Amino acid sequence: MANLLWQSNTSDLDERLMHFLAGEDVQLDRKLFLFDIQATQAHVQGLASINVLSAAECMALCEELDRLADAFARGDFALDGQFEDGHSAIEHWLTSRLGDVGAKVHTGRSRNDQVLVASRLYLLHSLEQVATHCIDIASVCLERAAGSADVPMPGYTHLQRAVVSSLGMWFAGFAEAFADNYQLACHTLDWINSNPLGTAAGYGVNLPLDRDLTTKTLGFDRMQVNPIYTQNSRGKFELQSLMVVAQSLQDVRRLAWDLSLYTTAEFNFVRLPEKYTTGSSIMPNKRNPDVVELLRSAAGVVQGAMAELSSILSLPSGYHRDLQGTKAPLLRATEHGIAALALIPDLLANLEFDRNTMTEAIDNGMFATDMAVDLAAQNIPFRQAYRQVKESLDDIKEFSASDSLKQRTSPGAAADLRLEQIRRRLMRTSDK
Ligand code: ARG
Repeated sequence: MANLLWQSNTSDLDERLMHFLAGEDVQLDRKLFLFDIQATQAHVQGLASINVLSAAECMALCEELDRLADAFARGDFALDGQFEDGHSAIEHWLTSRLGDVGAKVHTGRSRNDQVLVASRLYLLHSLEQVATHCIDIASVCLERAAGSADVPMPGYTHLQRAVVSSLGMWFAGFAEAFADNYQLACHTLDWINSNPLGTAAGYGVNLPLDRDLTTKTLGFDRMQVNPIYTQNSRGKFELQSLMVVAQSLQDVRRLAWDLSLYTTAEFNFVRLPEKYTTGSSIMPNKRNPDVVELLRSAAGVVQGAMAELSSILSLPSGYHRDLQGTKAPLLRATEHGIAALALIPDLLANLEFDRNTMTEAIDNGMFATDMAVDLAAQNIPFRQAYRQVKESLDDIKEFSASDSLKQRTSPGAAADLRLEQIRRRLMRTSDK
């Protein structure tokens, strides 16, 4: 690690200690690097607006930062162990190309607000992706619900056959879940949309930094005002963002559970597209739903990362190097969660349900509740109707599942799925 910002003589450094300090940080910074460069450009523009940098210096720095971003995106700039972190790499690039002008870049900032602003931009970018995936998942579910409102499916409670349900109701349930997840992502995007840049090490600086300008340039809704709280919010915002991912993945987990049951020979309600299954290394007869199972486990990966991240946050006010440890769980879980969500729309669009097996799995007992409710609607007290039906369970005659579904008129149920009501929630509050 030859390029340290804070040590002029690097020959007497203990390599083991340096390695322990940096850990995998510089590799993780690859995910944040372009955001760090973008925020550095906003920072130098802010410095120019208060005349700490000249317009020419500002332009030279911004152009060099553009070159660095291009080189990194092309794979021509290696962000690796020669640097302590991405922040050092940026300053090293600028000073090696622009000399003293490059050495001015860190005026009025600290790596503490630098890492915060890069992470904040990353969170916003990631949550936008989560929000988009939620819309896509909900949209496919709505489409499939509209086409299958009357397709019978057994409704289970305790995994025991309970009442007649429909495939449309099953899909509409996931549509509404992802409308909720979408709105949670939007609310969280509003909540975390604040600019930490310009708080320096956590106590401000003796310069009238143009924080309004950097807030606007970076597209934040507002600045995060208090420098001490800004530092203390590291990890807090990350945790909230992971919570959004986790909520979505809880629904994915339930979906995956349903699919892993419904694809068994015992249920045989649905066939997965071939590409979502894998073969067995020993049993030639098998196709396994491995993708669905890994989708099911993704929620656990994110929950584990949340536990790891939140356990780091037991700290007094101010920056502490412990906080570096929030980066790995944040990035790992966010990337994994987004990759999982991205697979769901295509999977759902291509599921092949078998109307016959689902209808055959509905036995006569599953009409008992309909019968009791019918009697109650004719003014027989419900408890009496319940007993009457229970006593004659064995002689329940053949009922039709489609007729039962046509009668399911309570709002939200099979005969009145209210898909439009769910669809309207997929618009940003500002678009409504
Ligand atoms: N890699 C560090 C982190 O993620 C950057 C900030 C370093 N700040 C410091 N005062 N040592 O927290």
